[in-house]
Amino acid sequence: MPLEAAQLIKDDQDHLIHPLHHPSDHLEPMVYVRGRGAVLTDVQGREYIDGLAGLWNVNVGHGRAELADAAAEQMRELAYYSAYSGSTNIPAIQLASKLMTLAYPNMQGVFFTSGGAESNESAFKTARFYWKTKGKPDKVKVIARSLAYHGVTLQAMSATGMSPYWKMFEPRVPGFVHIPTCYPYRQQDAKPGETAGQTAARYDAELGRFYRRLAVRKHRALAKVAVARKLAVRLYLMLREDWTYAQLCRAVVQASPSHPVVGGQNRTLE
Ligand SMILES: Cc1ncc(COP(=O)(O)O)c(C=O)c1O
Repeated sequence: MPLEAAQLIKDDQDHLIHPLHHPSDHLEPMVYVRGRGAVLTDVQGREYIDGLAGLWNVNVGHGRAELADAAAEQMRELAYYSAYSGSTNIPAIQLASKLMTLAYPNMQGVFFTSGGAESNESAFKTARFYWKTKGKPDKVKVIARSLAYHGVTLQAMSATGMSPYWKMFEPRVPGFVHIPTCYPYRQQDAKPGETAGQTAARYDAELGRFYRRLAVRKHRALAKVAVARKLAVRLYLMLREDWTYAQLCRAVVQASPSHPVVGGQNRTLE
């Protein structure tokens, strides 16, 4: 028998700690119970478009029976074994080999992680490892964008370019610097006539010419995406450094009330 929504929410508020949790943002959380394709259903039977595809990780949609069957079959055979050095397992070997047939030809290996923040931690560590082998152990600086979000772990938080994410957990990990983001609509610290990418490159003089070219290229690519996707344009327009993630998602829903778009832990407006 389905549990009452009010009881579920009370139990959630009593016992479940959420990432980026503030009780005032979590007074009336959405309780999702079902997903089919791109459509989610909440505990009261209301339907929503899963505009973020979970947290950008439900890449093939909800309710894919063939994936559930494959997971169940593997769990019956071998539930888990670690891939720390000295042991391995067949699904991990097969998936790594398969990915190599799909990825860029200059890729040789895969390091599996459980999520975005852990992936970023692994990337930071891999870069350090690389420069140590090249005899440059002090090359540890990481350049990130203002307004970029990189995850809840300590390094990922330090890379994140939004101060509300830092204040309760500082000091941040040293070595992370931020340059302005590719944000053509409310460009920060721009000189007249400068593109967002040029401002970013000028911001940190140490970046040099290589990063200038990189920033301009990324700006152009992002601008194309924004033109192609009205939602992305709205997001750019509404993005504010002092907003929490939940506030941003609410603003997106307000902008498009006829097509509620929800994501992750964020609730929509009625
Ligand atoms: C760009 C980016 N990096 C990292 C993360 C963190 O991912 P996770 O929550 O899986 O750790 C997110 C999550 O939204 C993200 O959007």
